[in-house]
Amino acid sequence: MKLNRRDFVRLAAMSVFAQPVLAVLQSVTEVRRFRLELRPEQRNWIPESEMPVDLWGLSDTQLTITQGEPVEIEVVNQLPEPTTLHWHGLRIENAMDGVSGLTQEPIPPGGTFTYRFTPEDAGTFWAHSHHKTYEQLARGLYLPVVVEEKMASDTDQDILMVIDDWRLNNEGQLDTESLGSLHEWAHGGRLGNFLTINKEVQPSFTVKAGSRVRLRLLNTANARIFAVDLPEVPAWILAKDGQPLANLMQVTQTLVMAPAERYDLILDIPRDAEGQLSVTMPTDRAPIEMAYLQVEGLHESKRVQSPNRLPANPIDEISPDQMPDHKVVLDMTGGAMGSMTQAVYNGEQMSMQELIQHKQIWAFNGVANRPLEPLLEARSGELVEIEIINNTGWAHGMHLHGHHFKADLARYNPDLWHDTLLMDSGESARIRFVAGKPGSWLLHCHMIEHQAAGMVSWIKVIG
Ligand code: C2O
Ligand code: CU
Repeated sequence: MKLNRRDFVRLAAMSVFAQPVLAVLQSVTEVRRFRLELRPEQRNWIPESEMPVDLWGLSDTQLTITQGEPVEIEVVNQLPEPTTLHWHGLRIENAMDGVSGLTQEPIPPGGTFTYRFTPEDAGTFWAHSHHKTYEQLARGLYLPVVVEEKMASDTDQDILMVIDDWRLNNEGQLDTESLGSLHEWAHGGRLGNFLTINKEVQPSFTVKAGSRVRLRLLNTANARIFAVDLPEVPAWILAKDGQPLANLMQVTQTLVMAPAERYDLILDIPRDAEGQLSVTMPTDRAPIEMAYLQVEGLHESKRVQSPNRLPANPIDEISPDQMPDHKVVLDMTGGAMGSMTQAVYNGEQMSMQELIQHKQIWAFNGVANRPLEPLLEARSGELVEIEIINNTGWAHGMHLHGHHFKADLARYNPDLWHDTLLMDSGESARIRFVAGKPGSWLLHCHMIEHQAAGMVSWIKVIG
């Protein structure tokens, strides 16, 4: 072959640029490796008690990774039961979603499983067991996951508060006898009687007067909806469920958080603040103090501007007037004081009595638990609208795996993205999302007892 002059120029240009480009690619694809052991742990929550509380946990208290950087996480199961880890809110490959019996077989005791993914989105997420979740979550098998932005955000400090309630018995131990209580499954789920933040009792975080704090809140309770009052300082919502807001919203009222919901906030600590600021949970009696910000020292530089928004994650915007490619209804029924009389379970029509024998009490579109057929099938990139109707006497926190959606519920600002949505009894919501990565993605109530007792469906995305 005879090269003419133009070909020569092209090749020459390539050889000049090829090398540096390759070098950059290589540095980007270097994999960060982690090893997480799932194992029993103990906490000294009650000073008077001689015995620490026996829980389950992970060998780390937080996983911090970086947006766009591939990770490999070797999970070692040192528990007496099989388990998995689900990466809640992370839009990763379906095979890494960690759903026992759907995307993977559970990791047996003594076994390991390596999760490999590259987090597309920065934000606040979490990992938790997705095998016998009602028990394993109640025992503490979860881990907050912070995916840092590639560029540092304009804050002085990052504080994470993982809110949980535990059911302790009279001996101050985890009440394991009530795990699986059908009564609770039919009502509001398992509510605890002991509150912790980061698995600690009323922890205190030191902050400087005049500083700008990024506060990440995460509700890891099995079923409790938490109300959270921030200290009276200027505060904004930066992100919900890991997705940044296009315009920051000033926090003017109590934050209400269903299980699994997250808020990323900015708190500007005034320059004249001193002593202890508290984060509290309002109740009909006195508020409960959840955690403290202890003001010590003064931040050197003065902040004059209000905070900046976070850079957007690479998620497709959803325009409200675009026609969806798929529209389906999801009718939620069942539970105590509901009118459900029958449902399909494992492909079989059953009476309420038979369902109860299988511990099934709730249904989506007349099917209790994961149906054989998906709620809908969509191609990657198609716009999906699901109208969710809460025809039950209870609140639910609806979670879609592997996707973020917008919703038209008055409780929320319409600009917020969600992977979990709180719906009160009698409410309906239209959720809209763009079908993401191919695979089988669960859609379930994150009041985990409701999920166990029937509130779970799934969608199928094809490439
Ligand atoms: Cu947070 Cu199906 O889970
Ligand atoms: Cu529910």
